[in-house]
Amino acid sequence: MGYEFSIDDVAFLRSRHGRKALLTTAESTLTPEALLREMPDLRARYGDRAAALVEIVRTRRKAAGKLADAGELLAGDVALQQATASAVAEHRAADIARHRPDAVVHDVTCSIGAEVVALADTPGIAGVIGSDTDPVRLAMAEHNIGHRDRRAPWVVARADALVPTSTADVVIADPARRSARGRTFRLDELDPPLMELLTVYAGRELAVKCAPGLDYRLLRDRFGFAGQAQAVSLDGGVREVCLWSEITRPARRATVLRSRGDGYEVTSADPDEIEDPGVDDWIIDPDGAVVRAGLVRHYARRHGLRQLDPQIAYLTGDRVPSGERGFRVIDRFGTSERGLRTALAARDCGSLEILVRGIDVDPDRLRKRLKLSGSTPYALIITRIGRAGTAFLCEPGRRGGDA
Ligand SMILES: C[S@@+](CC[C@H](N)C(=O)[O-])C[C@H]1O[C@@H](n2cnc3c(N)ncnc32)[C@H](O)[C@@H]1O
Repeated sequence: MGYEFSIDDVAFLRSRHGRKALLTTAESTLTPEALLREMPDLRARYGDRAAALVEIVRTRRKAAGKLADAGELLAGDVALQQATASAVAEHRAADIARHRPDAVVHDVTCSIGAEVVALADTPGIAGVIGSDTDPVRLAMAEHNIGHRDRRAPWVVARADALVPTSTADVVIADPARRSARGRTFRLDELDPPLMELLTVYAGRELAVKCAPGLDYRLLRDRFGFAGQAQAVSLDGGVREVCLWSEITRPARRATVLRSRGDGYEVTSADPDEIEDPGVDDWIIDPDGAVVRAGLVRHYARRHGLRQLDPQIAYLTGDRVPSGERGFRVIDRFGTSERGLRTALAARDCGSLEILVRGIDVDPDRLRKRLKLSGSTPYALIITRIGRAGTAFLCEPGRRGGDA
């Protein structure tokens, strides 16, 4: 648990004295080892506010690369972890502006305001409302949004998301997880609960950001959710599944964002007829958002690829799409450990990246048991073709488009 800020702390941090104190505190190292040494001096200068100053400076350092304007941020560690990365929030805001030009957007769980900032800076958004039940986070949001001019007018206010308080054209919500049990969770463990949000805002344009592990198929089959499930990844990591209530959108969408280079989108409205499964020169591991959204065939069709097996998400083809990871196939074996050990030793295998899909193998344990002692790096892709476990020995992974 990080430091618990009070409203008075936030008022201090926003004051002239507080801003100067933040600059001075930022000159300290503040690593766990240095803190014991540096804290007495900070306490002597800033008394009870020293802990708040340290937490803000450390959060700002962690936020660099995730949030725009990290150097101005007011947020505690938990709020930063929960905050939507700027690249993702900006994409969502642009998406809303494209679908619903000149919309007023209400973020009903705005926390420290990461999404409000992106919305208020996006051309085509007419106005932004941010609300939350936590007064301290709201005070921080006021600062995070208001420390510089924004394109669109905005306001933040305290309100319960489960009581509609505006007639905004689009509502967005990002419920917090009440338990920290890994990536999957129960629908009723969200705060505010997902089903209540969907009920309260039925008939309105709503986007709800959920964890990547959300079982959106269950939501559709059991609870009649009729909108779009969008899986979003940033630089290869799946960040969220966003539910969009509009039924005019294709049922599934994968959004692949990259800090460097172009991203792309695939939807369930794209064609998905591909050639029968087989093995070509390269094996391609599609982006996690494409896999999570169940759009592997759609993606394959776009790039002239096919599957190794109809049930498995690995693709194969004669080239690797730009920006994607591909592995050139050298050889193919069964999955007997003894056979693998002999084959890898014969090829002087040293380091080995192991990728597994559709079969129960722990890559780290297997790597240890293979007792590699050579000097050549390889990749091993272990999967199932039909019912047979199959291991593909490959050259180390390369990004398509690389020389
Ligand atoms: C995961 S955080 C939102 C993070 C935000 N999207 C961002 O990018 O910074 C969830 C927020 O929901 C708020 N919250 C929980 N229950 C709420 C409710 N019933 N009404 C309004 N806000 C609520 C919490 O205080 C918390 O700030």
